Amino acid sequence: MAQAATPTITQNILRDGLILPRTPDPAAMVIFGASGDLTARKLMPALYNLALNRYLPSGFSVIGVADTALTEDEFRAHMEQAVQKFSRSQPVDRAVWQSLAEGISYVRMPFDDAAGYGRLAAELDRLDRERGTNGNRVFYLATAPQFFSVIIDRLGAAGIAKAGEGWKRVVIEKPFGNDLKSAQALNQAIHAVFAEPQIYRIDHYLGKETVQNVLVFRFANGIFEPIWNRRYVDHVQITVAEDIGIERRGKYYESSGALRDIFQNHLMQLLSIAAMEAPPNFDADSVRDEKVKVLKSIHPIDVANDVVRGQYGPGWVGGQQVPGYRQEVNVSPASTTETFVAVRLKIDNWRWADTPFYLRTGKRLPSRASEIAIQFKNPPHLPFAKTAVQELTPNVLVMRIQPHEGASLKIAAKIPGPVMRLRTVNMDFFYGSSFMVESPDAYERLVLDCMLGDATLFAREDEVERAWGLVDRIEAGWASQPPPAFPNYAAGTWGPPEVDALIERDGRRWRRP
Ligand code: BG6
Repeated sequence: MAQAATPTITQNILRDGLILPRTPDPAAMVIFGASGDLTARKLMPALYNLALNRYLPSGFSVIGVADTALTEDEFRAHMEQAVQKFSRSQPVDRAVWQSLAEGISYVRMPFDDAAGYGRLAAELDRLDRERGTNGNRVFYLATAPQFFSVIIDRLGAAGIAKAGEGWKRVVIEKPFGNDLKSAQALNQAIHAVFAEPQIYRIDHYLGKETVQNVLVFRFANGIFEPIWNRRYVDHVQITVAEDIGIERRGKYYESSGALRDIFQNHLMQLLSIAAMEAPPNFDADSVRDEKVKVLKSIHPIDVANDVVRGQYGPGWVGGQQVPGYRQEVNVSPASTTETFVAVRLKIDNWRWADTPFYLRTGKRLPSRASEIAIQFKNPPHLPFAKTAVQELTPNVLVMRIQPHEGASLKIAAKIPGPVMRLRTVNMDFFYGSSFMVESPDAYERLVLDCMLGDATLFAREDEVERAWGLVDRIEAGWASQPPPAFPNYAAGTWGPPEVDALIERDGRRWRRP
């Protein structure tokens, strides 16, 4: 057997005098959908940054698979351009790119073509021989969702995914199904070839440093957990607000809407992480067991009263005039797809009984802001004159997922001066100023975790199915209501008027992040 040619940059070497704690086995990554947007925008830049920071194993190789007519050199050139355009570290280091590119090859085939899988198998064998990838493979499904099952099926039939020498893992992009039934069918199709521990369902929110930090915040500090419950918390607000529109993704978004695009996955992940019990340890099953318990404990949602949907009309965002959703490319002029959804829900367990959680997400809102805000109850008695406290607001702990990554605690403080006057001030933690390093992109962490065999930050079968169960309930509720009078909010505003009523009837108000 030929000796593996070891790229210089991707060796597991000492960095800053320390052995990196996370060094995956040599492996080949097969990217299905290699000529697509996700590969160019996210995957290849993530791989390049992992290579740059020396996290990739020796002999690491990539096989791009797509049905686009490209030679291997053209594919590599296309990937290089993508890295130049989308990598977070600039300028691109020639030597690092060169060493990564040496391990990149391309197999052109339709995803359902059995013969193509024979060529793919031959290419994988070559990598095992020549680059020492030892049968370790990641199959990354970055295609449109209609190809997920067929690719899995063909991988199984061609024997490429069979256990044997080395490990085999599969990464599935979102959307994982379209409703509970299709998610179950997809799970079944994947399980015909891969066992659950081999399956990595991506939710890129879990790869965000700030989302992981919520777990650290809660479970590595002694001071928060004792008050993280119904006795001290008045309510919780979770927001994923975007100022962008649907960005030429009309075709996808028309069949998705905010409920499927963000609520089913990113919002449910943020909710689970904010509400879960402390896991006994940080392994994949312990963490996911606790997250699933939260989803199982959600009180059946009363759709007519506790859900508000919206769709943006024309308006102004960031000083620019923007079209309404119905005027976007590939969107029906009579579309009833929601671009905004807000849900009020309760969690039936001892920690959270009767504590409302208000969740919202929307496109074309005034700003981009994702956060989890824990609002605490007021002190039982304030021993100050009424005038002293009039400017006070309750204590709120805000964990900012993005932007301005970090956390703030709103507390009361005395305004300097000879009289007793109080005001709310912020105690702030900013990632940027505390660590002075740029956070890796979510995909870097997730790709690396998959290669290391750590599925903690990926969604488990029962997790996605529970989340789809909630979506189905909301969809069923909507189907029994008259069609919505869309558009019902102007681009650049915080959603339809009903969304304020949803929270104000409980005597509370939405935050304006
Ligand atoms: C994706 C959605 O999953 O998340 C997009 O499909 C959305 O519609 C995006 O814009 C938001 O991700 P981020 O990382 O920019 O908050």
